[in-house]
Amino acid sequence: MIGMLKNKILFVCLGNICRSPTAQGVLEKLLKEKGLQDRCYVDSAGCHDYHAGEPPDLRAIKTAARRGIDISNQRARKIEIEDFQEFDYILVMDKENLKYLKKIAPKNSKAAIKLFLDYAPELNTAEVPDPYYGGSQDFEKVLYLLEVASARFIEDVQSL
Ligand code: 4NP
Repeated sequence: MIGMLKNKILFVCLGNICRSPTAQGVLEKLLKEKGLQDRCYVDSAGCHDYHAGEPPDLRAIKTAARRGIDISNQRARKIEIEDFQEFDYILVMDKENLKYLKKIAPKNSKAAIKLFLDYAPELNTAEVPDPYYGGSQDFEKVLYLLEVASARFIEDVQSL
């Protein structure tokens, strides 16, 4: 809950250069707007290290920038076993990511590992589609899905 303790939230996608950095930027912005930024720590990671150390994809940076969100300082990293102890929520973009994380999660994992769009059932969409091989409209769609789910996630944790 958003109470005295800091909630630690980790977004995960495949490469950590498109969807999860955007999710991090969107949630951080919403938390700031609600004055809740000090109660939450938000980070993102990938299931793979293809792009480790790189900034987000330029298309993701530009799409977020149109909403006043700057994600250009983020750097990609691969998820580590310690993350399962460190974070309260590991919020995942698609079912493949979820399957992988459940496979590597240690027995003593503290984190609730969930598909992020589970927080917004009204979207009738289970997964945030991978935009990497798509076009700008795919990045816009990603941003829209993440905005809706982020708003619902905040409501959900505030109501606990
Ligand atoms: P992301 O998108 O998982 O949303 O960061 C991708 C980025 C890179 C690759 C695939 C998806 N890739 O195959 O390199």
